[in-house]
Amino acid sequence: MSTIMDRLREETREQHKHAESRPLEIALVRGAVSRKTYIRYLAQRLCVHRGLEAAVDQLVTSDPRLADLDLRPLFQVPNIEADLRFFEAGSDPEPLPETTTFLNLMKTEADAAPLAWLGCYYVFEGSKNGASFIARSIRKALELDRDGTHYLDPHGDQQRPLWQAFKDRMNAIDLTPAEQDAIVAAARLTFDGVAAIDDAVADAIATAPAE
Ligand code: HEM
Repeated sequence: MSTIMDRLREETREQHKHAESRPLEIALVRGAVSRKTYIRYLAQRLCVHRGLEAAVDQLVTSDPRLADLDLRPLFQVPNIEADLRFFEAGSDPEPLPETTTFLNLMKTEADAAPLAWLGCYYVFEGSKNGASFIARSIRKALELDRDGTHYLDPHGDQQRPLWQAFKDRMNAIDLTPAEQDAIVAAARLTFDGVAAIDDAVADAIATAPAE
């Protein structure tokens, strides 16, 4: 039988392809973004991670099966806050409508199946794998060192072992088939939400009045 992590990888392959091919993601990989665009991207990610990590934190303390997941050291809110501080950008950004829509959708999913938050969490934890490459381009393009790129590359050379440990702990959870389905559905929804948010960030930049 497939593990939950096998299912997540296989059953969200198409969504990953869509998310990684958004113009904003392509520009990030190429290092073809301004500081302003990069900051706006981080600001929307902060809104998402605040919602996600608060919900996940509550979930892992309420379900004893999740007691060993040990997600807190992996949380990204402190990293994004540090990056935004470095750029002297505000720490309480206004969510774009797409960000609010996505978080509301996730809350609805989780009302029906609380473990759905794990599917959402998987998407962002997994995204650290590709993001560590994006960090290199951004450092070069924006002339940064580690400061300003803690979100994209929070773990440095520990990324591989930490990802493996996360996968092992996820696979060790005793899940019903219905819970597995809810986690996978939430992961698909999350990829689509991220793609929509990235497009909205790109649009907001394109239509912003020139300074
Ligand atoms: C241009 C942008 C992106 C690139 C180049 C990229 C690249 C990659 C690569 C190379 C991996 C495989 C890592 C490995 O197993 O060695 C990966 C995994 C992953 N990425 Fe992305 N990615 C991008 C955008 C995203 C976005 C926007 C998300 C979601 C927010 C995302 C979520 C994931 C997830 C969940 C995995 C883990 C897949 C698994 O279960 O093995 N990626 N990405």
